[in-house]
Amino acid sequence: MDMVSANLKEQNMTYDFTGQVAIITGAGGGLGRAHAMAFAERGAMVVVNDLGGLRDGSKTAQDNGVTAAEKVVQEIMALGGKAIANGGSVTSEDDMQTMKDQAMAAFGRIDILVNNAGILRDKTFAKMTFDDFKRVMDVHLMGSVTATRAILPIMQAQEYGRIVMTTSSSGLYGNFGQSNYAAAKLGLVGLMNSLKLEFFKYGIRVNALAPVAATRMTDDIMPPQMLDLLTPESVSPAVLYLCGKDAPTGEIMTAGAGTFARAQIMESEGVFIGVDATPEMIAEQWQTISDMTNARSYKQGSDQGQKFITNAFKAGV
Ligand code: NAI
Repeated sequence: MDMVSANLKEQNMTYDFTGQVAIITGAGGGLGRAHAMAFAERGAMVVVNDLGGLRDGSKTAQDNGVTAAEKVVQEIMALGGKAIANGGSVTSEDDMQTMKDQAMAAFGRIDILVNNAGILRDKTFAKMTFDDFKRVMDVHLMGSVTATRAILPIMQAQEYGRIVMTTSSSGLYGNFGQSNYAAAKLGLVGLMNSLKLEFFKYGIRVNALAPVAATRMTDDIMPPQMLDLLTPESVSPAVLYLCGKDAPTGEIMTAGAGTFARAQIMESEGVFIGVDATPEMIAEQWQTISDMTNARSYKQGSDQGQKFITNAFKAGV
């Protein structure tokens, strides 16, 4: 062991997943594959889920009968790791139950779930079909709900679990032509915000990752010189951090091309105008209302309500 690793070990800062079981959805390629490999390299037993579809979620692409998930399992095994493939769809309750049963039969526990599977159906909202909207919501938002629902009872019984939702800058900040995707991706942040509260007492921590990486999802969206820097492998350490024993909960981490950052939903301090406020009074006070100098992020929704009531009391209402 070199000095650096010895030091890290002393501070309990090594990210060693030996004995832990990680399920990564949509891990047949792109970011999911990189996460699966990274967990396996650090000792985790990995369930590689992927139905092997095309980018828009249409048909299942099979390669000589070997699925995308099986290929990644072979790569992990070739490096001496332990992994199994699951070809289920995150949109199917039955498939996700089967995936859970398969993981339990093979490895006996489930410590980590990375909800990563995704599809794209980009179009402006005016041109987007209802089906394009719904399918993207189904895979990203409901798919994460379905996988999480299947796995959570195991984590609850173990009193340990780490869950990562894959969100996106499109959801956090918007992107032209991605209203379906943006809605689903920010929906995942809402899901995380409630799960972090409901399952904290069971030792389960839930976080979100907003990655940027060159994958088939982005290969026609970004110029080639940008794509070279944006390796999926450079994002995976963020997922490992969010799944470590000392992981935070309810955080949104952004990661790409070697930069890691934290995103938060913030609210300005605001101003008490009065229960008889008018839109004219709001317009007059807009500078103060929108001043983010003392902005805060709340731990839960009721903290905001508390601020409103406290302000009203302070004003002597
Ligand atoms: P990708 O297209 O390479 O990977 C997505 C994988 O999900 C594919 O292998 C696909 O077969 C699988 N998949 C699709 N539907 C599935 C289903 N119903 N059940 C199981 N597997 C399914 O794309 P990439 O870029 O690796 O995306 C991974 C995640 O990261 C996605 O959630 C994506 O939205 C998110 N993301 C990616 C960004 C990027 O820059 N690449 C930016 C922001 C978010």
